[in-house]
Amino acid sequence: MMRAHPWRGIVAEYRDQLPLPPDVPAITLLEGNTPLCPALRAGGDNPLYLKVEGSNPTGSFKDRGMTVAVTAAVAQGARFLVCASTGNTSASAAAFAARAGMPALVVVPAGEGAVARGKLAQAVAAGARVVMVRGNFDQALAAVRDLVTRRPDAALVNSVNPLRLEGQKTGAFEVVEQLGDAPDWLCIPVGNAGNISAYWMGFCAYYTQGRALRRPRLLGVQAAGAAPLVEGRWIDQPKTIASAIRIGHPASADLAKSSVVESKGHFLAVSDEQILEAYRFLSVREGVFCEPASAASLAGFWEAQRTGWIAPGESCVCVLTGTGLKDPERALAVADSPVEADPTAEDLLRALPPALQG
Ligand SMILES: Cc1ncc(COP(=O)(O)O)c(C=O)c1O
Repeated sequence: MMRAHPWRGIVAEYRDQLPLPPDVPAITLLEGNTPLCPALRAGGDNPLYLKVEGSNPTGSFKDRGMTVAVTAAVAQGARFLVCASTGNTSASAAAFAARAGMPALVVVPAGEGAVARGKLAQAVAAGARVVMVRGNFDQALAAVRDLVTRRPDAALVNSVNPLRLEGQKTGAFEVVEQLGDAPDWLCIPVGNAGNISAYWMGFCAYYTQGRALRRPRLLGVQAAGAAPLVEGRWIDQPKTIASAIRIGHPASADLAKSSVVESKGHFLAVSDEQILEAYRFLSVREGVFCEPASAASLAGFWEAQRTGWIAPGESCVCVLTGTGLKDPERALAVADSPVEADPTAEDLLRALPPALQG
């Protein structure tokens, strides 16, 4: 879709699709309008596109929903924002709170590897009050839900806030605008199950309005140690290296299940090894650096190709939900280490791979 003006952010661009009063001033960082990058090598026999959500202002898809939730919170006179987070929600909430001139209380699981360092850095840099709770994400979410029942002046900006999903559905609008229609499949990582539900809302809205001729099938991808929607039971101690989707009691489980059923889609689980293979492939072979949880979408796409869920020739979009810069430790751990050399041409040439020697 051609726009005659520079991009103005989610609230201004999609105001007619959002349940906000027409005159509320948007709290925005000009989020959205992210690239839909054709995959050159990852797709095999399928046309595959990568929705690079790491290009949002705080580096993840959360900004799409945060702008809508925070715009409404300010309009309703909230005094502070609160959220539980595996990291990206806290980074986004902290930035939008700063933008709104409002305090934020963000609650993350404590413990080694519970939250990627870059995400924590973003939250503290934006001046949020960061609390690390002795518990997992599901327990942190239960605590903040309890908190807001006691404090009506607090705005809860987790995806249990329906305005978050309203904002996130715009990812589907962009996919339709960028491709000209919905793809055959949308492959997306699933943690708390809000984003997959939001995409489905967006595809349904554009289909109903005649802006898309069809809707995609949804492939919801979970990490094998944190796959309640695949296993059909809550997971009390979810485990995976993909900390952003280390969630055992997804708050939007019912919505996600009905979305996947309606789309004639499928949930599947991928191992940490499969996630890391896709993570490396995206960086090394596609030049797209995303975080491990995001790479689960490609790992799931490959698994669905292998098992026949996705047929040759069907078009697919993998949503790459967050940037790899959020988790530099992981990148450094899985890639070749840098080498030291003297500052001479000879030494530098010795560092070239064998195929380029001589
Ligand atoms: C990078 C990333 N990918 C995927 C997800 C999963 O999204 P949802 O919790 O809406 O299922 C999250 C959630 O925190 C995330 O941060």
